[in-house]
Amino acid sequence: MPTQEKTVTSQIAPLVDRSAWKKLTAHYEKLQEVHMRQMFADDPQRGEKLTAEGAGLFLDYSKNRVTDETLKLLVELAEESGLPERIKAMFGGEKINLTEDRAVLHVALRAPQDATITVDGENVVPDVHEVLDRMSKFADRVRSGEWKGHSGKRIVNIVNIGIGGSDLGPVMAYEALKHYAQRDLTFRFVSNVDGTDFAEAVVDLDPEETLFIVASKTFTTLETMTNAGTAREWSLAAFGGDKASVAKHFVAVSTNAEKVTEFGIDTANMFGFWDWVGGRYSMDSSIGLSTMLAVGPDNFRAMLDGFHQMDEHFRTTPFEKNLPVLMGLLSIWYNDFFGSETVAVLPYDQYLKRFPAYLQQLSMESNGKYITTEGKRVTYNTGPVLFGEPGTNGQHSFYQLIHQGTRLIPCDFIAFAKSLNPLGRHHDMLQANVFAQAEALAFGKTAEQVKAEGTADWLVPHRVFEGNRPSNVLMAESLTPALLGALVALYEHSVFVQGVIWNIDSFDQWGVELGKKLAQAIIPELESDEEPSLEHDSSTNHLIRKYRKMKGM
Ligand code: F6P
Repeated sequence: MPTQEKTVTSQIAPLVDRSAWKKLTAHYEKLQEVHMRQMFADDPQRGEKLTAEGAGLFLDYSKNRVTDETLKLLVELAEESGLPERIKAMFGGEKINLTEDRAVLHVALRAPQDATITVDGENVVPDVHEVLDRMSKFADRVRSGEWKGHSGKRIVNIVNIGIGGSDLGPVMAYEALKHYAQRDLTFRFVSNVDGTDFAEAVVDLDPEETLFIVASKTFTTLETMTNAGTAREWSLAAFGGDKASVAKHFVAVSTNAEKVTEFGIDTANMFGFWDWVGGRYSMDSSIGLSTMLAVGPDNFRAMLDGFHQMDEHFRTTPFEKNLPVLMGLLSIWYNDFFGSETVAVLPYDQYLKRFPAYLQQLSMESNGKYITTEGKRVTYNTGPVLFGEPGTNGQHSFYQLIHQGTRLIPCDFIAFAKSLNPLGRHHDMLQANVFAQAEALAFGKTAEQVKAEGTADWLVPHRVFEGNRPSNVLMAESLTPALLGALVALYEHSVFVQGVIWNIDSFDQWGVELGKKLAQAIIPELESDEEPSLEHDSSTNHLIRKYRKMKGM
């Protein structure tokens, strides 16, 4: 933790004093009543015009409550907020994670071998590729069966132990790329300190055939270290406590070699990464080892290439056609002007079932901040609540509220033209729902239309859809490893754009510390029959006493 005093001052005016912000405020007053029906009627080309493409992704953002003027002002806001300079600073390895005094270089993880990206005067790209090569060799050995367990059996089960960024990326990518996975290998992911998670993950596994990846940037996270310890006991028990077995059944992914050694894993079996990779930005570092084991080094590198394509799109494309910039700015528009408090991400692909959960950490841990980089309380709303489910499942649960609830919930639909599992008419049926939902949200159904269908008068209000509810449609040909990389990078950079405009540090996460610290103090209190600490409030103390009683103490 940096201890030196530092004064952060910005040349840029506070957000609400920026001229583009003021113009947007006035513009919003005029635009808030305008219906998208009108916008589409005014410009028959709108559906073709308000689109952009990059890295294999097509974005239709025409069903948003924006005009040319809105877009012009939003781009002006990005420029006035210093976004061009901040993009340069990030890609240039500057320490833009101010509170942790770190560079933010997930883009270096997918840079081609001949690129140069320097941190503290040193090119980090060769190190990235050295780790990638080691990962590839290891993955090939496990996938081919050459890497054997302690008793000589082939490894067929891989259990990733990690939490947050050391779990959500790996599990999301494993599910997303399952189509490309080696099917004679079984993958499990243990994250929760709830013993049930570990117990259920290994219930049908043979320890002699099981390899654990302990994935933790810090190698100090309570949940992960507890699960790793339990895994070691479970594994050792199968080998009569022979510690030599650990080398065959445990590998580590971390930035902390010292702690890895302390745990008993040889650093020869450790795959490193660096403090300039944030946990929630690490699925393409060695944290992605489980992904590489599942889909193989070539597919993993194809995924990295997709990430890189989107990085280049973001770095070089004018803001008016820049996917992450457009999506980030639209998010600001709803969040800060329309007062939207949530966003929904709705992938119409079963393989992306964990994508919303992944994005929750990416977005909410990055932009859930009320303090500016200068240490002042913001006077506007920052990161929205993100939620989502794959379509069409969500349609049969929470879409009602998106269509007819009192809140405005901007939606991102994600569609693919080709299915990885073509089955009769399934795919067209699935994707038709994307277009139908976006259409229904935008245009709704008027009372006249409802009446014309012969609906009884008293029922008409219930069956009216007011519409004017915004959405983006993202579409790609099919869910390939490269496309997944591009999609993740799109959201990473969109989150970055929003953080720059809000002038917050999107790369720290101090907000998770207090709860962690309090839990450490409470754990022994749950195990002791002494009076709980006087430092707690009466509610916490009462809960502790009640818990102990209920568990039979
Ligand atoms: O508690 C939050 C957090 O620090 C996340 O930012 C991170 O992804 C997760 O915990 C896991 O951390 P680690 O990889 O160090 O175990």
